[in-house]
Amino acid sequence: MNYDFDKVIDRRGTCSEKWSVLDNELPMWIADMDFQTAPEVIAALERRVQHGIFGYSGIPDAWYDAYISWWKRRHDFEIERPWLIFCTGIVPAISSMVRKLTTPAEKVLIQTPVFNIFFNSILNNGRQVLESPLVLRDGQYEMDFDRLEDNLSDPQTSLMILCNPQNPGGRLWTKEELIRVANLCAKYGVRVISDEIHCDIVTPGEHYVPFASVSDTARDISVTCVSASKAFNMAGLQSAAVFAANPLLRHQVWRALNTDEVAEPNAFAVTATVAAFNEGEAWLNALNDYVESNKQYAVSLMKSILPRIHPICGPATYLLWLDVRDLTESSREFADFLRNEVGLILSEGEIYGKAGQGFLRMNLACPASVMKDGLARLKTGTELYVSKHHTS
Ligand SMILES: Cc1ncc(COP(=O)(O)O)c(C=O)c1O
Repeated sequence: MNYDFDKVIDRRGTCSEKWSVLDNELPMWIADMDFQTAPEVIAALERRVQHGIFGYSGIPDAWYDAYISWWKRRHDFEIERPWLIFCTGIVPAISSMVRKLTTPAEKVLIQTPVFNIFFNSILNNGRQVLESPLVLRDGQYEMDFDRLEDNLSDPQTSLMILCNPQNPGGRLWTKEELIRVANLCAKYGVRVISDEIHCDIVTPGEHYVPFASVSDTARDISVTCVSASKAFNMAGLQSAAVFAANPLLRHQVWRALNTDEVAEPNAFAVTATVAAFNEGEAWLNALNDYVESNKQYAVSLMKSILPRIHPICGPATYLLWLDVRDLTESSREFADFLRNEVGLILSEGEIYGKAGQGFLRMNLACPASVMKDGLARLKTGTELYVSKHHTS
């Protein structure tokens, strides 16, 4: 089947968080996509809507089967049925687990720059954020294992939230890297939440490695967060899962999610996830081709027309991480300037941690024509910024 990812669909007036912006503004910030989800998901939801009764929902066997079979097929990893727990989103699950698995004032380690909401899940619960910065080498992020060990050895550090694959840099962590993380965490008694929400948006031919797959140690100390929501563009349906192989850890997590009442589905959550995993594979493959072509186009254009902006573009996610340190000391100021002068909305790097200072994040999950508009605005805005600041 042919899928039309070029089609521009007006999202204004749909309560979209991303598109609640002025008429002349182009939002390329929040990580959702401007594409319709897979037709199979839409059809399944339409059937569910037509049924017309939206009472309390439970979790059928089909939901477990869909996750298990997808991870086996796509990621060569066996999730066992009892490991899986439904949750209404990865962020609510992480916040809940932070509360259950740590006590106030303990430190939760994150490798920055990283998904900004990790900070909220930690700080809003009275825990401390421990930033263990990644190192940028030859245009991609790497872990600084000496620094990581030092941070993990702090007795106040009781939990690490791993972003696998990494948002915003798009790194796919290797098996070797993940084994080292697991061994270090086990050595210092630190448990791991591995957030794998971005795992299905990957350059064709590349593969993500589930943290729990790399060793018995990794499996024993970790909880993994997964969902169809990012890859199938249905974050608003609030459907996700966590899994943990270790029964004691799993029980704690199960208690946490149920105490916080984030373990029960709305009337559409299961239908959408089951349709996505069981019927949406061809669509997802086509989506990944399209995203890859957007990424290649944007990176090569930037190299030729924006020599002072250095794009970092890993194989995972549809996000470009832009190094703008040659242009400005404050990416926040530059982001504000772009929004005010040319209506382009990017995320400022500062929100991803100290290591994000001097960077911007650009979301390329949109029709190519929209992306080209964004790149043109970026070029105009950059030239204006340079002429205004007399930076040469
Ligand atoms: C790493 C990461 N985790 C979680 C989320 C959001 O998860 P949810 O919508 O299920 O709460 C995002 C969204 O961008 C993300 O990038």
